[in-house]
Amino acid sequence: MLGMGSCEQEKGGSSNPREEKVEFLLSQMTIEEKVGQLNFQVGDLFHTGPTVRTSNSDKFDEGIRKGEITGLFNIHGAAYTRRLQDIAVKESRLGIPLIFGADVIHGFKTVFPIPLASAASWDLEAIEQAERVAAIESTAAGINLNFAPMVDIARDARWGRVAESAGEDPYLGSQVAIARVKGFQGNDLSDTTTLAACIKHFAAYGAPEGGREYNTVDMSERRLRETYLPPYKAGIDAGAATVMTSFNELNGIPVSGNFFLMREILRGEWGFKGAVVSDWQSISEMVVHGNVANDAEAASLALRAGVDLDMMADGYIDHIPALVAAGELDVSYVDEAVRNVLRLKYDLGLFEDPYRYCDTVREQTEIRSDQHLAIARDVARKSIVLLQNEDDLLPLAKDYKSIAVIGPLADNQADMNGSWSFFGEPQHPVTFIEGVQEAVGPTTQILHAQGANLYDNEEDLMEEAVALAKQAEVALLFVGEPAIMNGEAASRSNIKLPGVQEKLVEEVAKTGTPIVLVVQCGRALDLSAFREKVSAIVVVWTLGSEAGHAAADVLFGDHNPSGKLPVSFPRSVGQVPLYYSQKQTGRPYDGDYNEAKTTRVYLSKYYDIENTPLWPFGYGLSYSNFEYSDIRLSAHEMSPGEKISASVEVTNTSDRDGVEVVQMYIRDYVGSVTRPVSELKGFQKVLLKAGETKEIRFEVGEEDLAFYRADMSFGAEPGLFRVMIGTSSSDYKAAEFSLSKE
Ligand code: NOJ
Repeated sequence: MLGMGSCEQEKGGSSNPREEKVEFLLSQMTIEEKVGQLNFQVGDLFHTGPTVRTSNSDKFDEGIRKGEITGLFNIHGAAYTRRLQDIAVKESRLGIPLIFGADVIHGFKTVFPIPLASAASWDLEAIEQAERVAAIESTAAGINLNFAPMVDIARDARWGRVAESAGEDPYLGSQVAIARVKGFQGNDLSDTTTLAACIKHFAAYGAPEGGREYNTVDMSERRLRETYLPPYKAGIDAGAATVMTSFNELNGIPVSGNFFLMREILRGEWGFKGAVVSDWQSISEMVVHGNVANDAEAASLALRAGVDLDMMADGYIDHIPALVAAGELDVSYVDEAVRNVLRLKYDLGLFEDPYRYCDTVREQTEIRSDQHLAIARDVARKSIVLLQNEDDLLPLAKDYKSIAVIGPLADNQADMNGSWSFFGEPQHPVTFIEGVQEAVGPTTQILHAQGANLYDNEEDLMEEAVALAKQAEVALLFVGEPAIMNGEAASRSNIKLPGVQEKLVEEVAKTGTPIVLVVQCGRALDLSAFREKVSAIVVVWTLGSEAGHAAADVLFGDHNPSGKLPVSFPRSVGQVPLYYSQKQTGRPYDGDYNEAKTTRVYLSKYYDIENTPLWPFGYGLSYSNFEYSDIRLSAHEMSPGEKISASVEVTNTSDRDGVEVVQMYIRDYVGSVTRPVSELKGFQKVLLKAGETKEIRFEVGEEDLAFYRADMSFGAEPGLFRVMIGTSSSDYKAAEFSLSKE
């Protein structure tokens, strides 16, 4: 199994100071010091993987002193990181500084909405600004490498890490990936307020069979390239300094040993020059996957395939020196990985000043500032999606006599920060009930009852809730998922509200009091039970520090909602994976499934449910109304290399200023490979004052029509296309144009 050969990657010249530094250090290093630079260890504050180690910082001290550790992750604190950095710089033989990594997934101490939520804002500036704040705060606490953004495409609502993704669509996912990388890295990696981004999890981690975490991924190269790879590529093109491999196998080859993904695509086709880090123990897990027999083979395979940093498997440090000594592994692989790591340290400015991120003054002044919290509130309210608003129940007046505030999440601070929020303090977030209390006038009575638990089927609390709802003029029901139910290792086979919350809503609905259902979640849930039972449905995802304020801003009309779904909401878990960008099939069905109940209809449909989602990708209401004119095309024929424009006039016909996300989709009717019924190719977020009309124009070029053709070449094919511009993936105006042969 252990191949020889040598690493053919560039050695790096000595024509610039960085390469000189790197080559000089490399020339001084023993093989043990080299593998030490590849050994990335978790710190002793908290764990985000299966290994449980006793808290013992001395262990790190000794390892750092011996040059056996390149960096630590999931630790923080300016003083703490300074102490460890001191050991590395002053007491190790070569004085190479440490990297400090962390999962700053949606903010540091100022906790932002989970990534799925901020993606629902479709607001790239707001997303970039949120990540900027995350970078400022985490670098102030000593961190200089962030294991984010996660850019995996997620089309299966059962998978728990949908919460960390930007949803189902490669175009939106790519735009969001770019915004996040820019936010983390800024223009200069060595700036003390920026940190290295890590595009993860390369690749196709978001497509596990059955939505079950860490499960097998098997897909065609075409689907991989067309749907799953674009956001990784976009993040890398935006300059992301590092990439993390994923846990899954892809078409039989575990990713951390996958030459095709890392050597051919990542380093070859895309020219990625940064450092690749494995996921937690994913190198040694190849033994469990069964493509190598032991840890030594796993380490050799991963290194040769292009993984530079070993996170938590200890495979490199334990096995690589012996493999090299035995002549079973060419040292050039080790050298190349070390170069990548040293270059990263250099780019972070650590050789110039190893303590540049260990600033106790910044730590005191720059974390959870009022300004950061204001940004968190802004991003949070932009992330909220209004799904239903019968009789314009929302926005609520602030002078109701009584409002019932019900549900297990109404007064639940612990779950506000959400999954992947290890730095956020549980006592910080503003709860929903606090937000409501602050928003209403002094004469409004708030009647509060929990109504149900999140984790059991106990119904004892329901009666009180129903009684309060009866007395109130309106009932706000805060229901949904607790933080533990989404994120890593949190797949669900049932995507309804957990416990007896569905029953709680039904019981409260029987009182006849109008209901606003406010849903906290980290995935698309099956909310089909509620459409007829409640007046309004608002998806708030999981909003972080300013959850209560942001939700109240929307509920009481201080903010006009503009969020749009980045994932399709299914009618039933049986529909997943569900996404708007489907193929037509040879027997499409868009009729009424009820009509076909007693006769067998030989079309692509379910017997018991419609094909369509309950709410489609791109959907989200506003308190304003927007009307779209027909599409005007600048030309009906596009020549290769040319562009045409497609424009609509959008009018805000309401008396309230509002923001609309105008979306453009394309369909290629006939291809050498069948094409999806529509693909998002552009969007613009526009403010329209009450009564205002704006012309929204999209440029369409050949690149928007391109795909992996039958021979796997990438490009457009002449023929007829449809352009759709509208308010969601299923509500739009359409026009047609053709691409000519020449
Ligand atoms: C495992 C997760 O998959 C990855 O996203 C994370 O960065 C590492 N653990 C480190 O916490």
